[in-house]
Amino acid sequence: MKKYTDINDIPDLSEIIKEAILLKMDPFKFQSLGKNKTLAMLFFNASLRTRLSTEKAARNLGMEVMVLNVNDAWNLEFSDGTVMNGSTSEHVKEAAAVISQYADIIAVRAFPGLKDKAKDESEYVLSNFLKYATVPIISMESATAHPLQGLADAITITELASKPRPKVVLSWAPHPKALPQAVPNSFVSTMHRMDVDFVITHPEGYELNPLVTKDSKIVYNQDEAIKDADFVYVKNWSNYNDYGQILNEDPNWMMTSEKLGNAKFMHCLPVRRNVVVEDSVLDSDNSVVLQQANNRTFAAQVVLKSILDSML
Ligand code: CP
Repeated sequence: MKKYTDINDIPDLSEIIKEAILLKMDPFKFQSLGKNKTLAMLFFNASLRTRLSTEKAARNLGMEVMVLNVNDAWNLEFSDGTVMNGSTSEHVKEAAAVISQYADIIAVRAFPGLKDKAKDESEYVLSNFLKYATVPIISMESATAHPLQGLADAITITELASKPRPKVVLSWAPHPKALPQAVPNSFVSTMHRMDVDFVITHPEGYELNPLVTKDSKIVYNQDEAIKDADFVYVKNWSNYNDYGQILNEDPNWMMTSEKLGNAKFMHCLPVRRNVVVEDSVLDSDNSVVLQQANNRTFAAQVVLKSILDSML
């Protein structure tokens, strides 16, 4: 791969999942591949898992890692032709080109503002790094996608599935803060590429971008959707049509042990206990959230390996 900003950058998903599982068994096998190569990780937003798992993945491949919390650097300007007499001190044109001289791969995390749909969908941070950097770019979650999470989730389902075509349900859940659609978008796109019986459930009016969901089966009754599920991925997202709004906080959408039954519970984390999901689910053997978080390392590692391979 030459970049990784979308799950569809992966040419063969099942092959890369197999490769990630092999890397998990022998994480240091390709320690010489990243020798004298540097990963720069730029965080416009906070992270626990993405930051640590991507750094660990790079180090497993022998890479050096530099982390920049962009809020500690100069305020970046992304618009063309701006008279920069306001709060921005450096243009992304220089910043991306400069960082490309220090790093062989640049990874970027930049959430949406959730105020201006067109601006968020333009992916102005990621797309400017793609445009002005001269080295490969990895998304560590952008305005509309979280492809490293999607890949980790695909690895987890592959490892834990007990039948050839498991039923996988994506269920909306309430949340007090407006959250992006990036994780559900990437999960939907990933499930479209796997051999699963996939169903989405959410309150009416909470449809995701139809360009993402395409012909996914959507069932508005959560109990009906979850029936006979093997995996239930629970995630809040703010309203896509009334962009960024919280129009529903119905606690009846919280995942409970009673609703989940014997299905495996999935969530990308961080998760608000007893808002999104009740304690008894997270504390049960049916929860696979820690496996998902562990697989973030091997998702990042297989992506970095593929990009490093392309540089040979
Ligand atoms: N799931 C995930 O991306 O976690 P962080 O926000 O902690 O990186």
